[in-house]
Amino acid sequence: MTTLNIVILAAGKGTRMYSDKPKVLHSLAGKPLVQHVLDRAGELQPQRVCVIYGHGGDAVPAALQESGATFVLQEPQLGTGHAVQQALPHLADDSQTLVLYGDVPLTQHKTLHQMQQAGAGLVLLTVNLPDPTGYGRIVRNANGDVQSIVEQKDASPEQLKISEVNTGILLAPTQHLRTWLSKLQNNNAQGEYYLTDIVAMAVQQGIAVRTVQPTQIWEVEGINSKIQLAALERTWQQVQAADLLAAGVTLADPARIDIRGKLICGRDVEIDVGCIFEGEVRLGDRVRVGAYSIVRNTRIAQGTAVAPYSHLEDSEVGANCHIGPYARLRPGTKLADEVHVGNFVEIKNSDIAAKSKANHLSYIGDSTIGSRVNIGAGTITCNYDGANKHRTIIGDDAFIGSDTQLVAPVTVAKGATIGAGSTITKDTPEGQLTLSRSKQISIEGWQRPQKGKK
Ligand code: UD1
Ligand code: MG
Repeated sequence: MTTLNIVILAAGKGTRMYSDKPKVLHSLAGKPLVQHVLDRAGELQPQRVCVIYGHGGDAVPAALQESGATFVLQEPQLGTGHAVQQALPHLADDSQTLVLYGDVPLTQHKTLHQMQQAGAGLVLLTVNLPDPTGYGRIVRNANGDVQSIVEQKDASPEQLKISEVNTGILLAPTQHLRTWLSKLQNNNAQGEYYLTDIVAMAVQQGIAVRTVQPTQIWEVEGINSKIQLAALERTWQQVQAADLLAAGVTLADPARIDIRGKLICGRDVEIDVGCIFEGEVRLGDRVRVGAYSIVRNTRIAQGTAVAPYSHLEDSEVGANCHIGPYARLRPGTKLADEVHVGNFVEIKNSDIAAKSKANHLSYIGDSTIGSRVNIGAGTITCNYDGANKHRTIIGDDAFIGSDTQLVAPVTVAKGATIGAGSTITKDTPEGQLTLSRSKQISIEGWQRPQKGKK
């Protein structure tokens, strides 16, 4: 197969976004519009990806530094044909060039693959719209062969009736593209160098012009305003929710789930309303996620229940755990099976072994906790001395009384019991009761202070 080069047009200003941020950097499903395009581009294993940028200074290249793309400044912006011209020095003659738009985020792999399969000539991605206003129209002859693309502002009343429109996305043999672009003129209604003029040139040269259509119209919808951005976001969320339902996931309301990344579910997963999933999240069989929970880059093993309003981030949760309500698992939390984490418990960078419980109001940071440990309500690991972080280690079967402060670095040996209200600053021995509070005393005849006379 011929090698593939990809040019992503992203120089437009996006005036109607009313934002200082370049349009293509606005987010859809938690990711910049142009990043969606780069991700789809990457799947085609191109030899090179060129991003044509313009407005917003270096914001676009700076945001996409890690993409490995080549960034080419288009200044001034004289039209889509002029934009592709800027990429030409970076494109190999023996390749094919795919032109994508940085503000058309949801074109699916299958559609782009179909374009690659369509043949050697010029391939256009087109779509039939009930209201084609504003788009370039696909002009065909009596045999149905594509003759040219005519822009809205240049079209005759007859041409304006054509409902098949140009999405802008096209695939062309690079060598021909180079020749065609060198011949572009700007003697049209907008005084721009139209990329679309290459179609008539191909026809004249006897080079086949074929068309491919996407399965869904949303695949080729572009973003020009916050209204369109919000609408496409909802469309995409509906598409993802429908996929989950089709795969057997129970959603309390498919209109009230947001997936900003990838959500992979086992069998009989149940998700209540208002949940947000970010990055890559994996839910094992029979996992239940309670209302208004936020789960980011986390794996949850089978049978675990997450009660409402819990936040889980960069964590691993074992099987049959109970999390929440109102639990917060911060990065680096690893829970083994059957662990219970209750309300207002925050855990960070800690390993908790099987069957341990922290059910109420705790902070557990930088800790290694054994199995069957009970962490009493209000227990705090004091992991930070103002300069450095230190670890707390708690052995199997330890019992930490309520309202204990464990001043790290400190080790509570296995089977140890800590009396409630203790401040533990030294390692505690196995099997014994350790407490640091003073003994309870009662003072006979003690008088409450009285208000002084003024
Ligand atoms: C273009 C097509 C039209 C098609 C429509 C689909 C041309 C001449 N027309 O029209 O047939 O129906 O898209 O949306 O190609 N851009 C640059 N540099 C420029 C000009 C544009 O990078 O100098 C980028 C824009 O940021 C945008 C894309 O190219 O992402 C399309 O530009 P736009 O001006 O919106 O083209 P349309 O007039 O909509
Ligand atoms: Mg446009």
